[in-house]
Amino acid sequence: MHILELIEKKRDKKKLSKEEIEFIIKGYTNGSIPDYQMSALIMAIYLNGMSYEETTNMTIAMAKSGEILDLKEINKTIVDKHSTGGVGDKVSLILLPLVASLGVPVAKMSGRGLGFTGGTVDKLQSIPGYNTEISKEKFIDSVKKIGISMISQSLDLAPADKKIYALRDSISCVESIALIASSIMSKKIASGAEKIVLDVTVGNGAFMKTTREAEELAKTMINIGKLANRETICILTNMEEPLGYAVGNNLEVKETVKFLKGEMPEDLKEVVFELGAYMIKLAGLGENIEENKQKLQENILNKKGYEKLLEMVKNQDGDITYLQDLEKFPKAKYIKEITAKEDGFIEKIPAKEIGKIACYLGAGRERKEDEIDNSVGIVLNKKVGDRVEKGEIILKIFANGESRLKEAEEKIKEIISISKERNKVKTILKTII
Ligand code: URA
Repeated sequence: MHILELIEKKRDKKKLSKEEIEFIIKGYTNGSIPDYQMSALIMAIYLNGMSYEETTNMTIAMAKSGEILDLKEINKTIVDKHSTGGVGDKVSLILLPLVASLGVPVAKMSGRGLGFTGGTVDKLQSIPGYNTEISKEKFIDSVKKIGISMISQSLDLAPADKKIYALRDSISCVESIALIASSIMSKKIASGAEKIVLDVTVGNGAFMKTTREAEELAKTMINIGKLANRETICILTNMEEPLGYAVGNNLEVKETVKFLKGEMPEDLKEVVFELGAYMIKLAGLGENIEENKQKLQENILNKKGYEKLLEMVKNQDGDITYLQDLEKFPKAKYIKEITAKEDGFIEKIPAKEIGKIACYLGAGRERKEDEIDNSVGIVLNKKVGDRVEKGEIILKIFANGESRLKEAEEKIKEIISISKERNKVKTILKTII
């Protein structure tokens, strides 16, 4: 087999066999296929797509590129959660301690920010001391002992995905159904998940721009789940505007703590409760979705979800005094309020542009090696559909440099629009079982 022939095949819209896909994944993981050839192949896949069969074979080959975690010793059904990415998406940070407080075991491997979207690992690392790179033994032991652990992709799980994910990000090949489906499902299979709940985001701030594309991605992942014997449920959620109010690492951690203490933005609550209710169901701890939502509500009111977050952070060497006193988190040097120019209803706060501006301020990376600035970002005061009066604050920009602040301010003024009529989009668009 030769890589050039395989690139040619995909370039010419032909199908790759299971053996050919295994050859590619193995070769790229061990370095015998260089980045430039893999880039050409990835671009061909991006342009020409892959069949269900090719995508499944790619997923399995990627899952097998490293260790496949065996979580049987936990002795409970392991239900995992993953999102296809978004802006202001702190769902994992809130949802996972919350379901863990109800007895759903959580063994979660999260990612870093990708493109304009944020990553759970970056948010966790904004909590001083929190260690996202614990050993496999401590990871499993933590799930057994306290019911939850959240780590980065640091164990030798799906190393092929780690390499391909970074490559895709650097050659503008992220938004592909076959590549996203194989990336997510390979990680879930490698990390020992038996059942999977997926948040498939749709809209301006998501990789899937339309419900039709998102449904296609959802069906692809459900199909891979079936073939790999992992029951998978997909929930399509709106990502036209940022989720909740905060965008930026420690700003989102603060919103997480407030949420778990009962201050819940409506859209974020809908997503957390919908995904959580299905996680409880798949874990075999409650058949009825509405009753499961009640259980989640109870563990917000009695603060058990919040206590579980503290327990997890402490267990991974994080300093919980920051969560107990949110004022302790480092603050940005400059805070600029953006106000409404006229009366009306907020029409658009485009998530992608907000995500890009947050990255530009330092909340994300322009290059892989860039350092993250945990205190910068954007906090909304208003959401799409909200009424505003002229002069009222729409959002605040948190920055550490004067020139970046100025540029962010100019860009934001261009992208936010106000209309005379109220138009509000649904948050949960569809649940596909
Ligand atoms: N999340 C992933 O894990 N992989 C992708 O390709 C996109 C989002």
